[in-house]
Amino acid sequence: MEKKLKIKGGKLLTGTIDIDGSKNAALALIPASLLAKNVVTLNNVPRISDVFDMLDILSILNVKYQFINNTLTIDSTSIINKPLLSDNVKKIRASYYFIGALLSLFNEVTIAYPGGCKIGERPIDFHLNALAKTGVEINIDNDKLHFSYSYISNTTIVFPSTSVGATINLILASAKRENLIVLDNISCEPEVMQVIDFLNMCGAKIKKIDEKTLIIIGNDFSKNIEFNIMQDRIESGTYCILGALLGNKLTIKNAGLRHLQSLLLLLSQIGIIYKIENDSITFYQTKRKKTFTISTAPYPLFPTDLQQPLCVLASTIPGISYIYEGIYLDRKKHIQELNKLGCNIKSFNNKIIIEGPSNLKGSEITAYDLRGGAALIIAALVASGTSLISGVNYINRGYSDFVNKLEKVGACISMEENQ
Ligand code: EPU
Repeated sequence: MEKKLKIKGGKLLTGTIDIDGSKNAALALIPASLLAKNVVTLNNVPRISDVFDMLDILSILNVKYQFINNTLTIDSTSIINKPLLSDNVKKIRASYYFIGALLSLFNEVTIAYPGGCKIGERPIDFHLNALAKTGVEINIDNDKLHFSYSYISNTTIVFPSTSVGATINLILASAKRENLIVLDNISCEPEVMQVIDFLNMCGAKIKKIDEKTLIIIGNDFSKNIEFNIMQDRIESGTYCILGALLGNKLTIKNAGLRHLQSLLLLLSQIGIIYKIENDSITFYQTKRKKTFTISTAPYPLFPTDLQQPLCVLASTIPGISYIYEGIYLDRKKHIQELNKLGCNIKSFNNKIIIEGPSNLKGSEITAYDLRGGAALIIAALVASGTSLISGVNYINRGYSDFVNKLEKVGACISMEENQ
């Protein structure tokens, strides 16, 4: 029976929400750990379904792991190369990091086409073209991809536009090979920097020449290391947006605020009342909010992963706000669902127009992707009456323990099994 989330909205939230480790850093660091060819301990790993899918993929490769609380120990000393064609490879996006990691270790890899949330076209042409430039031969047979190194080449790759996944994949594929690779127009997301820091701690030679350029001097290494994963800036940002709406002394703790500057600046401009202390932020009731215009863009600008929750905040502000989605032009399936709750949101191409204030009322709605699901939860918490949200599996992919976290601060939320 499909689980549904039941939310009775309209309650202010008080107390503390603790943020977990970063999903997108963890999903890259798990395959990156294989390059250490040793025992790696990752601290602060979030207990979310995407991480469990990555762990299942490790088992296919005969990699041993232990995941206790938030500490993940990965022992890859007996790793073997096997085709990765299982359903979890097809389900999640980050499975594509096994391309780089296994190429690095075995010179070849067979893998199913990666999946991920349905947020529009998500090609992997930047990965494929860049790998081909470093000497990788690629054969595509329906949704099965085969990669093998046919020669070693020192080369410079200029990514056509910034890509988190392609930057990390090229780093993984190149770090251990005897070559010199320059990557230009790289993604500067903090999660990419974590992968670089981790691999350098393992013995890799990856140097940042400037903000957008890396040089990788391939060399072999093996090291037993322990590494702390950064806080999840998107989980944190999602709860900050919730705090801006319903916070009545709601504190987001261990919030990773260093990486949330674009959101904090926007919240200040809107007039949201908050107080920062160390790495915690507390939200108080804001009576008057101002409309805004913002575009999503690569870090350090406003993250696409917060576009959907931000639509809910905009819906409560008198007047018209505009959000331009600059990364995933079709990341907008949440709009029709938010409108079912009473929002007044329209979109033309990548322009999202939100007219407020809307008087939200509970309804039956469906999450079609992770962050869209988060937006629906926020909207249902704001709405009067009861909402039932389907598609909970998407939300479990990236928000650990969210029902308990929200209940603890006073939300009326439960997971229903038999609807
Ligand atoms: N792109 C291409 N070709 C490629 C790769 C990317 O055209 O080969 C395009 C994409 O379609 C997109 C843009 O380039 O328009 C940026 O995509 P990027 O490669 O940076 O995204 P990603 O690596 O697939 C990661 C996160 C996403 C996050 C984006 C952008 C992981 C596992 N996923 O995706 O996270 O939205 O970076 O910051 O790290 C989420 O957490 O909800 C999520 C979707």
